[in-house]
Amino acid sequence: MHTALTQDGTVLTLFTDDAALRFHAIWLRDNAQDSATRASGNGQRLIALRDIPAETRISDATVEGEMLRLTFAPENKTLAYPVAWLLSNAYDKDLDQQQGWLAADIELWNADLQANVPTAQFPELSRRGSAFAHWVEQVTRYGFGKIEAGPIKEGALFDVVDLFGFVRETNYGKHFEVRTEVNPTNLAFTGLGLQAHTDNPYRDPVPTIQVLYCLESSAAGGENMVVDGFACARRLQLENPEYFDVLARYCAKFEYAGEDGVCLTSRRPLIELAPDGELIGIRFNNRSLAAVTDVPFDKMGLWYDAYRRLGEIIDDPAMEVTFRLEPGEAFVVDNTRVLHARKAYSGTGKRWLQGCYADKDGLRSTRDALHRTAQEAAE
Ligand code: FE2
Repeated sequence: MHTALTQDGTVLTLFTDDAALRFHAIWLRDNAQDSATRASGNGQRLIALRDIPAETRISDATVEGEMLRLTFAPENKTLAYPVAWLLSNAYDKDLDQQQGWLAADIELWNADLQANVPTAQFPELSRRGSAFAHWVEQVTRYGFGKIEAGPIKEGALFDVVDLFGFVRETNYGKHFEVRTEVNPTNLAFTGLGLQAHTDNPYRDPVPTIQVLYCLESSAAGGENMVVDGFACARRLQLENPEYFDVLARYCAKFEYAGEDGVCLTSRRPLIELAPDGELIGIRFNNRSLAAVTDVPFDKMGLWYDAYRRLGEIIDDPAMEVTFRLEPGEAFVVDNTRVLHARKAYSGTGKRWLQGCYADKDGLRSTRDALHRTAQEAAE
């Protein structure tokens, strides 16, 4: 392994056996790992960019074993970097990413996942061992997961949230009740299924995790169904890129004003992309879509065609995974990606679920902290 510097010292190239990776001097200086730059305990940066001269350049570079030693001018400061750290943080790579590209840690799915629904037993999850690590990994990868064998008691959904994060309280409270009593004398009103949707798109920010916990389920039907919104968006894009683009390009509006003192609104697209095109969110909820007024007149027809087609794809049984929640069972869903629905009830009986929101930064943090612990244990 060796290095080369540009004439002016503003760019360093690290040559490995199979790559030549360029790094800017200012980036290297800003990412120094020494105790004057980063706090040794929490790893937080102690300096601001203003503390680094704008004319920073590298005056000397040497590779010593597993370390790269760099001297920066005009500070005349020599700093050491683990080569492994540089390799894992290299940014000199092809970033030619398509609209709607996906993060590497997620996997799209459709009805074929039916036989492999990410499922774990609550008592095992509570032990926070390898089954827990696996389940957290799966929920992040697929955007949902089922839990079985949980306690049948009110508030048990909070024990689920405790596994990875914190409840997001809303105007519905810390949790909400989903209670249905099927009245056999009034069957006309019992057949209500709900189209697959993401919850609360009118919130800003939207709750990113939903937990639904079943406490009673004696009514026939009422199965839960989930759909991978990212897979639907990708299918829409393959079928008709114009449809995908118009839903990603223009903001819809969502609104909930169903109780006194509450008037929640948001202005976001149905398909949300990061500025570099990464697919990061789906919002789809026919009940709370407000009048859309931010699509240009000459695009509104196209926008509605695209919205209709996205809905058809979401409704396609080939995209859905269905499962029935029995008492003591729950599911956790990434509300920025996976849509959920309830199928119609029939017959007699009761159904009682409790639901709440949480956030997926906690889920990701749990996963990554488990990774780090596993790595440290392996070293
Ligand atoms: Fe919902």
